[in-house]
Amino acid sequence: MVWHKSKRILLGVSGGIAAYKSPQLARRLIERGCEVRVAMTRAACEFITPLTMQAVSGHPVHLHFLDAEAESGMGHIELARWAEQVIVAPASADFLARLAHGRAGDLLAAVALATEAEVAVAPAMNRLMWEHAATRENLKTLAARGVRVIGPGAGDQACGETGPGRMSEPEEIAVEIAGDARPLLLDGVDTLITAGPTWEALDPVRGISNRSSGKMGFAMAQAALDFGARVTLVSGPVNLPAPRGARRVDVVSAHEMSEAVMARAPKSQLFIAVAAVADYRPVNVAANKIKKDGGRMRVELEKTPDILAQVAALKSPPFTVGFAAETENALANARKKCMEKGADVIAVNDVAGGAVFGAEENAVTLVYRKNGKTGEEALTKADKYLLAVRILERIAPLRAAS
Ligand code: CTP
Repeated sequence: MVWHKSKRILLGVSGGIAAYKSPQLARRLIERGCEVRVAMTRAACEFITPLTMQAVSGHPVHLHFLDAEAESGMGHIELARWAEQVIVAPASADFLARLAHGRAGDLLAAVALATEAEVAVAPAMNRLMWEHAATRENLKTLAARGVRVIGPGAGDQACGETGPGRMSEPEEIAVEIAGDARPLLLDGVDTLITAGPTWEALDPVRGISNRSSGKMGFAMAQAALDFGARVTLVSGPVNLPAPRGARRVDVVSAHEMSEAVMARAPKSQLFIAVAAVADYRPVNVAANKIKKDGGRMRVELEKTPDILAQVAALKSPPFTVGFAAETENALANARKKCMEKGADVIAVNDVAGGAVFGAEENAVTLVYRKNGKTGEEALTKADKYLLAVRILERIAPLRAAS
């Protein structure tokens, strides 16, 4: 199976009756985790409205050069750079001719010329236009330049004729561009995830915390949602928007996180502890800002509850997954942690040097506890979302079998 981290796709719409399928194509791509921006030619707007495409893609549609709204957000050259893939669907005979001849008179054709991304076209036209020598020549030229041609299919046409020239179905195009739809490995599974750091107050303005950005936990939440899970995300103080569809519970301290988790864990089927929970908190929290006084200061700390261990110790616990950050003897420590905390899986990452904090990429080894023993599997470094997908691909069958 090919997994794509949210691929950035520019969907171009040129003029043709098949443009009525373009919103469906946008949806099919978004369902596969792609981010979609849309550019339409003037002729396309005779068939569907930019408003429809804006609504399905969630972004203003690019129509003309110097189009104040879309161009001020992202100019056409920026759009060409932004795209990791261009798909023009439908691609009319006229659009194919313009592309083959390098004409950049309209915004969509200009972007298709200015991009380094792969350009794919899904032609749609009357069968005689499709079979015309001019169209054949243009397609030959385009194919020789690396343009991918998807379809067309044959069948009844809007013009009343029957033959080749019908645009491929949105689902077929989406498979070509973004791979198979995701299997719902966690369909309806109640999943509880902790993320971010905790903040243990010393006084109203100071406290003890750590460098967790929350990105890995939020990526796990997004990936679980994409696998069909019902996700509750209990997050410490972070600067990230919650993935759409997740229930978010914001907490500050380890105690608050523990309470929020323990209230929900008995009803959850999967618990993933990604949060970097403070292990200790100040015994006394000053009501007012602590004033400096002499050269030294002592702070007495006490243990915070181990949330992962608490959840694993429940009478009928959810399948529990912990994350361990280690700077030395990573695997040996993770095996020990897995057994001691009673977690089903520990994902361990080596944070020697601190490189992982706030980074976009991460690498982990999964340590499993099975029949009183541990097994392990190393997952290579990847974007945090992609890594989350791989972790869940491994965890989902283990949970289902537990
Ligand atoms: N964890 C937790 N509650 C705590 C501390 C940790 O739920 N009070 C969870 C984390 O969310 C993570 C796992 O335990 O999933 C491992 O955390 P880590 O900090 O690596 O391990 P510790 O148990 O704190 O051990 P140490 O700091 O001694 O390495």
